[in-house]
Amino acid sequence: MPKVEQVCLGIECTAHTLGLGMVDSGGKVLADVRRTYKPESGGIHPRESARFMAPSSAQALAECFEEAKVPPRRISLVSFSQGPGLGPCLRTGATLARAVSAYLAVPLVGVNHCVAHIEVGRRYGGASDPVVLYVSGGSTQVISYAAGFYRVFGETEDIAVGNLLDTFAREAGLPFPGGPEVERLSYCSKELVDLPYSVKGMNVSFSGLLTRVKSLIPNRKLEDLCYSLQETAFSMLVEVAERAMAFLRKDELLLVGGVAVNGRLREMCAKMCSERGASFKTVEPKLCLDNGVMIAWTGLLAKSVGYETPLPSSQVKPKWRVDKARVGWRKGT
Ligand code: ATP
Ligand code: FE2
Repeated sequence: MPKVEQVCLGIECTAHTLGLGMVDSGGKVLADVRRTYKPESGGIHPRESARFMAPSSAQALAECFEEAKVPPRRISLVSFSQGPGLGPCLRTGATLARAVSAYLAVPLVGVNHCVAHIEVGRRYGGASDPVVLYVSGGSTQVISYAAGFYRVFGETEDIAVGNLLDTFAREAGLPFPGGPEVERLSYCSKELVDLPYSVKGMNVSFSGLLTRVKSLIPNRKLEDLCYSLQETAFSMLVEVAERAMAFLRKDELLLVGGVAVNGRLREMCAKMCSERGASFKTVEPKLCLDNGVMIAWTGLLAKSVGYETPLPSSQVKPKWRVDKARVGWRKGT
């Protein structure tokens, strides 16, 4: 990090949350403002979500400056989620970021959303060189750093675990997002229903599990299904995370992404780590979910090694994989 204190405004806008965060180069969080789109029915409609975010952004930005008690001239950098994510949402966030950076005449830096989930976990969860279990609505990956990139050692072969929980919840008539609802109901049962368990090396597959658990909705108690769905899906995740830790000989696990909020998943990861003498790290639930703080912090890391995103290269990248993003600030670790 540079000696002179920098303050970064980070803009998150990949799917359902418009997040504006302000962080200084010491990692102090100065502001964390969020506006979250909730579909009236069904899943996230990308254009509807973007339509919700665009008019909210001016007021959210004003609130962010108010909360941080920082005058605009103290901002030295604007960072934004350049991808991966839903096109219309990404473009809304990128437009806001370009406008603020041009207005304040400060550099712009585009960051990878998945890298930001990892970096906020390392900074605020106290992890250094972990195996990362990244679980969210759009992603399920087992990641670790090697030679300049965050490499994917295992991932879902079909849908992400958050998507599994959200889709099941929707079919069962529960509101969006489904993950917290499934968790709430899971605590009312201890009845394990037999469900498909699909692990292939360090990869997982959830589509068979989803088909089966959906088919049981008319016949089984919803609490039992929520409990069994979590136990089955999370056991698969813990198994592949442990395999990666053994394979890479790393003794630290970092759990990040929206599904990392889940208390049962945290408990299972912590147990696996303690049984193998490893340490388990995660961050407070608020920082697991999409937010601007993680984008601001990653922007500062990127700028510390000279990364900038000039306007002509600032187009959004909806399919930008984590293992294609440069992470030059991790050199030497
Ligand atoms: P990404 O682009 O990283 O995939 P995302 O759009 O999925 O991000 P996040 O905020 O990272 O957004 O994650 C949202 C997901 O987290 C949703 O699928 C939601 O159901 C899930 N989630 C939130 N709270 C819980 C919980 N308590 N238990 C399980 N899942 C949860
Ligand atoms: Fe996310």
